Amino acid sequence: MIKIKNNIVDIKASATLAINELSQQLEKNGQEVFKFGLGESPFPVPNIIVEELKKNAQQKNYINVSGLIQLRNQVAKYHSIKNKNNYTAENVIIGPGSKELIFQTQLVLDCDVLLPSPSWVSYEPQAQILSKKIHWIKTDAKSNWHITPEEFDKVCQNLNQVEKLLILNSPNNPSGTSHNNLEALATIAKKNNIIVLSDEIYAELDFSGNYRSISHYYPEGTIISSGLSKWCGAGGWRIGSITFPQELNYIRKIVRNIASETYTSVSAPIQYAAIKAYTVDHTQYLINSRKILENIANYIYKELTDVGIKCQKTQGGFYMLCDFSNVIKLSNEISDGQSLCQKILSQVGFAMLPGSVFGIQNELLISRIAFVDFDGRKALDLMQNNNRIPEDFLQKACPKIVKGIKKLKEWVKKN
Ligand SMILES: Cc1ncc(COP(=O)(O)O)c(C=O)c1O
Repeated sequence: MIKIKNNIVDIKASATLAINELSQQLEKNGQEVFKFGLGESPFPVPNIIVEELKKNAQQKNYINVSGLIQLRNQVAKYHSIKNKNNYTAENVIIGPGSKELIFQTQLVLDCDVLLPSPSWVSYEPQAQILSKKIHWIKTDAKSNWHITPEEFDKVCQNLNQVEKLLILNSPNNPSGTSHNNLEALATIAKKNNIIVLSDEIYAELDFSGNYRSISHYYPEGTIISSGLSKWCGAGGWRIGSITFPQELNYIRKIVRNIASETYTSVSAPIQYAAIKAYTVDHTQYLINSRKILENIANYIYKELTDVGIKCQKTQGGFYMLCDFSNVIKLSNEISDGQSLCQKILSQVGFAMLPGSVFGIQNELLISRIAFVDFDGRKALDLMQNNNRIPEDFLQKACPKIVKGIKKLKEWVKKN
């Protein structure tokens, strides 16, 4: 029998997908499940983009590996403004989700990988598949789980002989970057010749409405991944982009060549429809989406803090780290983050992910919750006439979030 390679024999299905499958199983068995595990946008894809997809259903030909030129032009224009640099279609690759493009970029680069702890679940397994060495940069609750220049510098000093790629995601899933120290981080990256992959998939959902990127201070060394999965509710459409500065176009060329031998191109109708995501004004949709998410984040923060759970202040998107160490005593049954999540899932039906899948030490009683178990269309409709969050918004639009949080609080009080 042919053996599985050593470096991947232990790779499991993505933790977020696994918790979703387990939740579905519990539901099938008749248990009510509050889905705070998988982070999928609850909002509908804007109608105008859906209509464009219908119109383009007949597009059947393979598309240029890098992506449709009209779409790449728009992506380049978008990032030129947002990331304050000059990009052209030549700098952009469209792929089947930014996840694949992040993987391909890691694949191409002969380097070690620096990751903040915590980091998004898939960076580490991707690096592991590619036999890359990972170095974690510590963060903690004091800095709201953002990396600090001091910790970044410390890790770099021990690694001055190796080439390095830093992957940063902001705003938080589950960490992020502070808007105030980006310049200092950029200076360290520049000094150490580090390439930064800035994962900006949640940028449009930054509650400030004014996302700031490390590329503003280090454009020549920053690669930007992005896409429609989060701000535009189109995760299942599987489309993402990666944008390289001119200085790093040598990497883009190889990523493109690899793409040509693997996925070929993203589905044609999806690419035609995606043009509308970049050419139509979605300001109101985004303002409302951010307001809704911020409102829910504030609600959860207040409710869980009330019972002594230490919560992260969410900057944008739909995630929050929750530290149960003040309220749960370690025991045989709950000895780490993983057993805490299992216990809460089985007793409360509240699904969340242990901090360990993001690179947090498993012995810490920290979990990540995703607050997306609500009807995004209904939530947007409730906002439509007044641009404000109505009084009874949470009860009307997010009853499962309210009930799930209530149940979790009751459980914490009992334990
Ligand atoms: C931080 C982060 N980056 C990247 C992705 C991948 O998004 P997609 O492949 O849908 O573009 C996700 C999806 O969950 C994410 O949370």
